[in-house]
Amino acid sequence: MSRILAPITPCPIEFMTERSGQSHPIILVGENDQSFFSEDTVAATWAKANHFTGKCGDILIVPDNDGTVSKVYLGFGDGNDVFAIGNLFKQLPEGDWHFEHLPENALNLFLGLALGSYKFARYLEITGNKKIRITLPADIDKTELKRLIETTFFVRDLINTPTNDMQPDTIEEAIRELGRTYSATVTSIWGDDLLKQNFPMVHAVGRAGSVAPRVIDLRWGDENHPKVTLVGKGVAFDSGGLDIKSANGMLLMKKDMGGAANVMGLAKLIMDAKLPIRLRLIVPAVENSISGNAFRPGDVLKSRKGLTVEIGNTDAEGRLILADALAYGDEEKPDYLFDMATLTGAARVALGPDVPPFYCNNNELGQIISRISMEIQDPLWQLPLWKPYQKKLSSRIADLNNVTTDGFAGSITAALFLQKFVDQAANWAHFDIYGWTPAEKPAFPIGGEAQGIRALYTILKGL
Ligand code: BES
Ligand code: MN
Ligand code: ZN
Repeated sequence: MSRILAPITPCPIEFMTERSGQSHPIILVGENDQSFFSEDTVAATWAKANHFTGKCGDILIVPDNDGTVSKVYLGFGDGNDVFAIGNLFKQLPEGDWHFEHLPENALNLFLGLALGSYKFARYLEITGNKKIRITLPADIDKTELKRLIETTFFVRDLINTPTNDMQPDTIEEAIRELGRTYSATVTSIWGDDLLKQNFPMVHAVGRAGSVAPRVIDLRWGDENHPKVTLVGKGVAFDSGGLDIKSANGMLLMKKDMGGAANVMGLAKLIMDAKLPIRLRLIVPAVENSISGNAFRPGDVLKSRKGLTVEIGNTDAEGRLILADALAYGDEEKPDYLFDMATLTGAARVALGPDVPPFYCNNNELGQIISRISMEIQDPLWQLPLWKPYQKKLSSRIADLNNVTTDGFAGSITAALFLQKFVDQAANWAHFDIYGWTPAEKPAFPIGGEAQGIRALYTILKGL
């Protein structure tokens, strides 16, 4: 029964601070910019023969007279999409490399390069990685770069790991491992203790799972620093419960702990960078499964906060476990309460997989999140906590229903549901993420994805 927590996928690129004698240049070329070839007519002719125009992400390998690799020209387009060169690792010949003509926001360029080199290989036989060493320019913070790479790989690994190896107890073990690495305290309330400690909805959603449901709680940092509490939806697998999903709808549901994986990544960034923050990470971890003791449509649950919830649909389970976890986090009046969750299909219909919507009870903070997220290319888009829709969550026999009858504005009504359980935190923001890259992009291979955590980390650094 015991599931092993695998080590984080290592980055196959070695980043160096000193250039070796054998280092070859990678020359960034803007689209249709011939000036880079001016001194090298051989390269210019070679580029023409290969239809290399400097289109973002295109690569031109130029050989020496003896046929060995001399240098590489790398298309950089208009320079606006630094992640578009994420393909480079796959195309680059083995060896030592350094960049020429680097733009200003070069950290993201190296990040994109590294993110594109990720491969989830836990269940594959690996036949040795090619050896690529890249020298960083002096103004790049190598520690920060490695921190962002390792954290993204950590989040991707957690999501990519299938449920047979990533159950609620494995999520707990991953959080305990974080605690050991960064000297944080980790506690867990599980099984029937959830009832004694008043997490009735976490218990109800998770009790049919083969592994006990739990609420995992990590604390770190100086009590005098601003209190930041992170909450993540940890549904190890979402079958839909008795309102069972279709085969297609269930296929990707190992990723329904993507919110938990992402806040775990954000916590890792915060602790690794030793930000002056009193951090708390709360993860309700369950499997939304089917059994004789599963919660049912029509059941009325009493939440931790006291509000009663009529179950209109057992597949709207994320908001139930988050409601108890948010209420729990809210009790100590944090300065910032952030939750991340793969909460609704409606968020994808609205904005697609790459732009997670978020909601914030403080419009000023909401605008900061919007601006920073776009600046650092970790996009987030604010949607309104539109009060008039609240009444669509009403129930005749309980304080709330967990779903609306018409399904309109599904991501907004889910956010409004959560808002009912937060009232003491100074600032609250909720992120309805997808946590998955469904179509290959240069720096983003198909699979689990970190979303929004670089943006939040950047904002928290600036507190
Ligand atoms: N985990 C799903 C949401 C989801 C589905 C995210 C597909 C990403 C991709 C969530 O628990 C769910 O099932 N939501 C329902 C809510 C509905 C029953 C109100 C949904 O979105 O269909
Ligand atoms: Mn569901
Ligand atoms: Zn779910």
